[in-house]
Amino acid sequence: MTKIVEQIKELKNLLGNRVIIPAHHYQKIEIVRLSDFVGDSYKLAVDCSNTESEFIVFCGVKFMAEGAFLLAKKYQKIIMPDLNAGCPMADMIDSEIAEKLYKKLNKSCKREIIPIVYMNSYADMKSFCGEKDGCVCTSSNAGKIIEYYLSQDKAVFFSPDYNLGINTARQLKIPSEEIVKINRDLTIEPEMDIENVKLFIWDGFCHVHKVFTTDDIFKLRERYPGIKIIVHPECDEEVVNSSDISGSTQKIYQTIKDSPQGSIWGVGTELNFVLRIADDFKDKKIIPLRNSPCKNMGKINLINLAQSLSSILDYKTGKDKLKFEVNVHEQLRLHAQKALKKMIEISQG
Ligand code: 13P
Ligand code: SF4
Repeated sequence: MTKIVEQIKELKNLLGNRVIIPAHHYQKIEIVRLSDFVGDSYKLAVDCSNTESEFIVFCGVKFMAEGAFLLAKKYQKIIMPDLNAGCPMADMIDSEIAEKLYKKLNKSCKREIIPIVYMNSYADMKSFCGEKDGCVCTSSNAGKIIEYYLSQDKAVFFSPDYNLGINTARQLKIPSEEIVKINRDLTIEPEMDIENVKLFIWDGFCHVHKVFTTDDIFKLRERYPGIKIIVHPECDEEVVNSSDISGSTQKIYQTIKDSPQGSIWGVGTELNFVLRIADDFKDKKIIPLRNSPCKNMGKINLINLAQSLSSILDYKTGKDKLKFEVNVHEQLRLHAQKALKKMIEISQG
């Protein structure tokens, strides 16, 4: 065992049940092995909200840690080993643009428009949604959440990920004439009268998932007859259509876990996750569609995890002030929390 792993274990021991370490599936293997639980964005949000520990040391990216903060109890503190672990997709929209667009769309659309924001967004967007009686969603429940509002004859403004929006729309069999893409200059594609549009999708994307192609899938199918392809819904529509299964990181993990010994899987998602699945299930052959790591997820490492645990210890023993703390501005907190709680209510309903 390396010295730093020993140090982290010792710090965890000293802090006891005052600290809990959740990790997203995309965290590096050595971080996942030291964590208390692992999951996709939805599972982590729910599991964190059920913990009692004073300190939640969140190993993931900033929007996930903000989600944990929004659902945490008043006395809990959220710590993130690297506060600069962001998400370029979450940066692709903010509440100022969303507000402007929402007003513009509302003038021409005959239905009431409900904003739904992917978890991969910052607290201002979640607050914007909560204020407009909208909701958050994740890749594991986007279908259920969109359907919930469409069945009430409302229209939906979905952001920021175009691929999750369109892949979910296809699953729900929403006719193409009722869907438009909103470009980042606020133009609409295809240009048309939006009176009857039911789904407006923002043109955001994840560069980690954009790289996968149908050609990657074709090559693997040629090389490994009988291979199954599983991808994340942040992949392009044609990639999802050429795969056998698509779903959240938790669904990917569980599906491979439940598959028979000797199965061969081509996996279209973040590289460190695919490598860990291969390590966890050595009786199966797991191949990444292409090597595509998420640099932001990779910012959490053993060194900054050790530093954040040390900082908690120093704070508890009165030696220093607390570092690496995540907060959401009080002005945003209540509405953002409302949008997150709505997601849990619909998902569990
Ligand atoms: P999951 O909710 O499926 O874990 O996805 C999170 C994410 O960031 C995918 O890029
Ligand atoms: Fe963001 Fe993509 Fe990384 Fe997920 S994989 S955190 S969407 S950059």
